[in-house]
Amino acid sequence: PSGRLIDRLDRPLHDLRISVTDRCNFRCVYCMPKQVFDKDYRFLPQTDLLSFEEITRVASLFVAHGVDKIRLTGGEPLLRKNIEKLIAMLAALRTPDGRELDLTLTTNGSLLAKKARALKDAGLKRVTVSLDSLDDTTFRRMNDVDFAVADVLEGITAALRVGLGPVKINMVVKGGMNDAEIVPMARHFHGSGAILRFIEYMDVGASNGWKMDEVIPSAEVIQRIDAALPLQAISANYAAETAARWRYADGGGEIGVISSVTQAFCHDCTRARLSTEGKLYTCLFASTGHDLRALLRSGHSEAGISAAIAHLWQQRTDRYSELRASPTAQSTDAQRKIEMSYIGG
Ligand code: GTP
Ligand code: 5AD
Ligand code: SF4
Ligand code: SF4
Repeated sequence: PSGRLIDRLDRPLHDLRISVTDRCNFRCVYCMPKQVFDKDYRFLPQTDLLSFEEITRVASLFVAHGVDKIRLTGGEPLLRKNIEKLIAMLAALRTPDGRELDLTLTTNGSLLAKKARALKDAGLKRVTVSLDSLDDTTFRRMNDVDFAVADVLEGITAALRVGLGPVKINMVVKGGMNDAEIVPMARHFHGSGAILRFIEYMDVGASNGWKMDEVIPSAEVIQRIDAALPLQAISANYAAETAARWRYADGGGEIGVISSVTQAFCHDCTRARLSTEGKLYTCLFASTGHDLRALLRSGHSEAGISAAIAHLWQQRTDRYSELRASPTAQSTDAQRKIEMSYIGG
């Protein structure tokens, strides 16, 4: 229906991140702390979730508008029943010029050993696995549900084996919690074929009690690794890449650092996010979403919904991380931020 969509800061729409469930079997301290996500926490009821048909309808409109990369997130996306069915539906979509999508998924890895084959067969291209430590005590403390490192490693091995690659490993670095694991993680994945990425701990949501002094700047992560395993900077794969890339001088592969706190990358942010219940967010830190589900369920035409999406993107001015970093940053504490487990990382 349209050409390229550009927002008010001249950024095209390229990626759609879809949260398929707000539930997770982990309680990572920086994401779903137990004190908030306890047994009384009310997750969304089934009827509030977008169905696979609804997700695919919305996704196809985004693809017509220029999206060529779709990432499924959560919560833990592998907890959504029959997720491979949705993957097969999304894998069938084509860009206006006939290309397949870069279709991927971010998982905590707990169910990956069991599901890697089915995901691959359904048409998933690759996976990103979150893993914050190789030390079992530290990892169990971070996931807070006593989940063992070995089971995640088994999931990563399964993903590599079935060809869900390049497999990326995401480690959120929280100062005082797991920063001693930076170099051991680098050593472990050096030469493995997996791409390890270090993520600065962010102030997402309202429940993780974020403090700036718990952020380890990426520059320091690079310094620490470089001292053990020499690194060389390499250029980005594409303009809007979140990670800055480095390769091991000895040919042991590459790593990445995602510096959304110390080096915000809003200036070329091409990402839209669809929440579990069908709200469209134009920023990870947005306080309100736009209710696409209401349009889907009230009989709007494809053209009408498509125009609504175009309008929302064309109005977009979000650049939260850059504003937070600026010396004149306004306090956003009064503003209720959305939880990452709901909007999707
Ligand atoms: P690739 O396609 O493999 O390069 O992945 P990606 O970096 O786009 O996605 P991934 O889900 O692996 O993102 C890694 C982490 O980067 C997320 O968990 C977030 O912590 C952070 N991140 C991703 N997108 C954004 C964003 O738009 N804004 C901010 N502030 N952080 C983001
Ligand atoms: N800061 C940075 N990354 C986070 N994630 C979740 N919460 C945060 C946070 N506060 C990341 C996880 C995972 C993805 C789902 O989001 O590491 O890779
Ligand atoms: Fe679950 Fe991922 Fe959040 Fe951890 S970071 S609680 S695994 S959604
Ligand atoms: Fe994009 Fe918002 Fe993240 Fe900036 S803070 S990179 S605008 S999602």
